[in-house]
Amino acid sequence: MTQRNVGAGVLKRGLHHPQTLSARPQTASADHLFWQTPAYDRFELLQIDETSWQARFTEHQQAQAAGVLEAGGLILLPRLAFPLDDAERPLLGPECVKRGAKHVSFDLRTGRLRGASIRTDQGGPLHQMLERYARASFALVRALLPHYVEALEVARTSFRPIEASGRTSSWRKDDRRLHVDAFPSSPNQGRRLLRVFSNIHPEGKDRVWNIGEPFEAVARRFQPGYSRRWAGYARLLRAAGITRGLRTEYDQIMLRLHDRMKADLGYQAGAVSTRLRLPAGSTWIVQTDAVSHAALSGQFMLEQTFLLPVAAMLDPGRSPLRILERLAGRRLA
Ligand code: SIN
Ligand code: FE
Repeated sequence: MTQRNVGAGVLKRGLHHPQTLSARPQTASADHLFWQTPAYDRFELLQIDETSWQARFTEHQQAQAAGVLEAGGLILLPRLAFPLDDAERPLLGPECVKRGAKHVSFDLRTGRLRGASIRTDQGGPLHQMLERYARASFALVRALLPHYVEALEVARTSFRPIEASGRTSSWRKDDRRLHVDAFPSSPNQGRRLLRVFSNIHPEGKDRVWNIGEPFEAVARRFQPGYSRRWAGYARLLRAAGITRGLRTEYDQIMLRLHDRMKADLGYQAGAVSTRLRLPAGSTWIVQTDAVSHAALSGQFMLEQTFLLPVAAMLDPGRSPLRILERLAGRRLA
C-alpha cells in the first residue's frame, strides 16, 4: 500500500488511538471500493481516472457517481489536478488569509472576495484563481452529474492555504474533529451541500481526512432534539443580518448536530472512522452535510460548494432532511 493509493484506506478508531479494523477495502469493481464492518455499515469510494476538467463521462459513470454520492460515499479523481499559472503560484502561502479567518472565500454570483489579507483588486491573481476554480468545478459537476444540473446552485468557493493540523481555533471551528457541515450564517433550508475539493499542495503533501459513521447513525446517536422553536426567532436572525436567508428548523437541528459531535470528546476519541489520504494533484466530490468528516492534516486546498434541492436527488429519502423528518415525524423545512 503506498501513500498515494487512497483506495487502500485504513479503518481506525479515534484520532489518537488508531486501531486497524480492516486494511483492505472490498471491491464492487476495479474503481468502486467499499469498506464494511459491523460498526461501520458501508463506506463507498468511486475512483475516476480523468485528468481534464472538461472530461466527458459515460452514462454508466454518471449513474455510478450520483449513486455513490447519495449513498454517503466519496468520488475521487486521483489525477485531476488544478494547475496554477505563474501569477497565481506566489499565492501558495498562508499570508493571503486575513488574521482570524479560516480561508479566503469567493462568491461567483457577486464576484466578492472575503477573508483575504492582501489587496485583492478585482481581476487580481487571487480573484482569478478562485473564479477559475469555480468555473472548472462547475464544468466537472455538469459533466459528471447531469441529473443535478438543472437544479444545482453555485455557492461559495474557498482557498485554504493554512495547515489543517496546526490551526488554533475554537472547538466549534475545529475541523479536525468529526462533524457534518452546517453553517450558522448560511442556512441551506434542506438543500444538499455538494462540495468539490482539490489538493493543490506544490510539494505533494496529502490532505488526510477521517470519514465517520453514516448520517442516520450520527443523528440517532446525538438526538439533536426535535422540539419546535419559536417561529419568530428565524425571522429575527435574518432581520439582524445574522443569517443570509431564513434559518429553518432543519438548519437549527443540523447546527446542533455539528456542535454536539465536535463538543463530545469521548465520541471524537472513540468513533470508528475510515482514514483517507487525498493526494496533491487530486480532486474529490462529497456531500458533506451527510458524510461526517474530519480534516487531520494538509495544506493548500481549493473547494467549491454547490447547493442541491432534495427533490433533484435520485432518491430524496437519503437526504439529511428526509432522514431527520422521519426521525422527527414531521416536516422540518
Ligand atoms: C471541512 O471540514 O469542511 C473542511 C475540510 C478540509 O479542510 O479539508
Ligand atoms: Fe466540514
